[in-house]
Amino acid sequence: MSFPVHRPRRLRIDSRLRGMIQEVSLFAKNLIYPLFVVDGLAEPREIQAMPGQKQWPLAKIHEPVADAMRKGVGAFILFGVPVSKDGQGSQAYDENGIVCRALRHIREHCPQAYLITDVCLCAYTDHGHCGFLNSAGVIENDSSIQALASMALAHASAGADMVAPSDMMDGRIGAIRALLDLNGFTDLPIMSYSAKYASAFYGPFREAAGSAPGKGDRCGYQMDFRVARDALPEFELDLEEGADILMVKPGLAYLDMVKLARDNFSCPIAVYQVSGEYSMIKAAAEKGWVNERAVVLESLYAMRRAGADLILSYFAPQVAEWLKEDQS
Ligand code: PBG
Repeated sequence: MSFPVHRPRRLRIDSRLRGMIQEVSLFAKNLIYPLFVVDGLAEPREIQAMPGQKQWPLAKIHEPVADAMRKGVGAFILFGVPVSKDGQGSQAYDENGIVCRALRHIREHCPQAYLITDVCLCAYTDHGHCGFLNSAGVIENDSSIQALASMALAHASAGADMVAPSDMMDGRIGAIRALLDLNGFTDLPIMSYSAKYASAFYGPFREAAGSAPGKGDRCGYQMDFRVARDALPEFELDLEEGADILMVKPGLAYLDMVKLARDNFSCPIAVYQVSGEYSMIKAAAEKGWVNERAVVLESLYAMRRAGADLILSYFAPQVAEWLKEDQS
């Protein structure tokens, strides 16, 4: 096996042949577009740290949905920002909470939209943590998962097509599955943020969702990026508890975990290209330092190559347009 008999370039020289043997695909139907709906907001508000992304008022939340659907994106994940927060995050599981109202509103205007909801308390608690805190400021895992289950049930009852818990409490998938089943939602899938790392790449999201922790950080529940070994048991536990889709988050820096999930499980795998990944590309592109379109598509193809079926991305509608142009 050596030069000059073996010339791998033979397969690369002709663009027609390159197209014929393209292995990895990317379609608009692989994409999920995250949207922020803000209670009490009158007009859409630009998210400073995420150029091109907005916080949406309830009355207009169908607009980005309809626009993305015209471009070919069919699935959305909704994040809510309530007017008032409290220690129990009670707006999170209120059936008239902002996400429940948004579900009903979008359903009315865009009945075909596939609507996923993020299930987590951090945007709803006054302390900004993803679960309850006791008087000593310690996360109370087991009461938190009951609240998360109630939140998932409220979303299901308001018409969500899928729920996606992102809190990283132990046992939450099982608690959510049990409560959904008890209430007749046996066919509603759960996409679990299974390998979710405590990541600085979430920085811009905290502005978008107003969800920064007041005190401390999320290292007591989100995963440590210096550890690889606990991802597999996290995936296994979530599957055992009833998860239908496993998610890895963030994206580009964690493709080893996407590959790990792909190699070990037959269920669909999702990956989240998070806010920081979006903002870094936007910033560099604005300066003319990288070609936005090329860098975005390369990143998403890399995620597909690592084994992701689904990609959550703030670029989703734009990518759908680019893919259409590439075809024509
Ligand atoms: C809620 C949640 C976060 C993200 C998705 N769900 C923030 C966090 O965990 O701190 C981040 C998404 C992004 O950065 O785009 N827990």
